[in-house]
Amino acid sequence: MLEGIGISKRFGGLSALAGVSFRVAPGEIVGLIGPNGAGKTTLFNAIGGLHALTAGAVRLDGRDITGLPAHRIARLGIGRTFQSPRLFPHLTILQNVLLGALFRPRAEASLRTREGDLGEALRALEFVHLGHRAGAPATREPTGRRKLVELAMVLAARPRVLLLDELMAGLNPGEIQLAMRLIRRVRDERGAAIFWVEHVMEAIMGVADRVVVLHHGEKIAEGPPAAVAEDPRVLDAYLGERAA
Ligand SMILES: Nc1ncnc2c1ncn2[C@@H]1O[C@H](COP(=O)(O)OP(=O)(O)OP(=O)(O)O)[C@@H](O)[C@H]1O
Ligand SMILES: [Mg+2]
Repeated sequence: MLEGIGISKRFGGLSALAGVSFRVAPGEIVGLIGPNGAGKTTLFNAIGGLHALTAGAVRLDGRDITGLPAHRIARLGIGRTFQSPRLFPHLTILQNVLLGALFRPRAEASLRTREGDLGEALRALEFVHLGHRAGAPATREPTGRRKLVELAMVLAARPRVLLLDELMAGLNPGEIQLAMRLIRRVRDERGAAIFWVEHVMEAIMGVADRVVVLHHGEKIAEGPPAAVAEDPRVLDAYLGERAA
């Protein structure tokens, strides 16, 4: 179980997050939505150890992980994809995914072999339907594919918790359908807890069990997708931003 308790983050005079609390349980897909600048990526950075919090705490299975460095949080089984994919440019697609496999939690890592790492990476690449691109240089691929490579990289680390930041941005309609199926499969087959930022509303409304809505750094709504989609505060937040 991943839990945030009263998370606040200030950048100078700007309050990017103000007292945000949430929970994501194993086997649960929780959507995180809100207009541009709402604080979604900042919340992921706070969970993942990239930002020091101004206030609040992050817990994983009841353990306080607030303030741990990013690599330790990754080792504890929290995997994360980025809004714009961050791949190693001089490596092939398979080599990138292999780096993910090296980040498996310690218990598994002690039993690791080179063949085991490679197998894990290949399985993750097949999982995202990109086994045939294994030897290609990572950066020459179109955005959609690079995002799926990043997903494979994270899955190869066998995370218990996945933070997906706009996985669907830059994907074509076929890739969006694929990504929706993959997110469901990760939940069904691994029982992972999935916290997922998305602007592609059809995808999040069709896949998420529950949705959390941020606006100007505050949680303004939370609940089943259908209820959140009709919540007047949520509609106001989105329409207000569009009007502005
Ligand atoms: N490192 C930083 N330094 C200063 N301000 C920042 C920093 N990171 C984010 N912000 C500000 O914090 C606010 C929240 O940004 P954030 O990137 O979390 O929004 P978001 O919800 O992810 O938006 P989007 O949907 O556009 O990705 C914005 O006003 C942003 O400009
Ligand atoms: Mg963002």
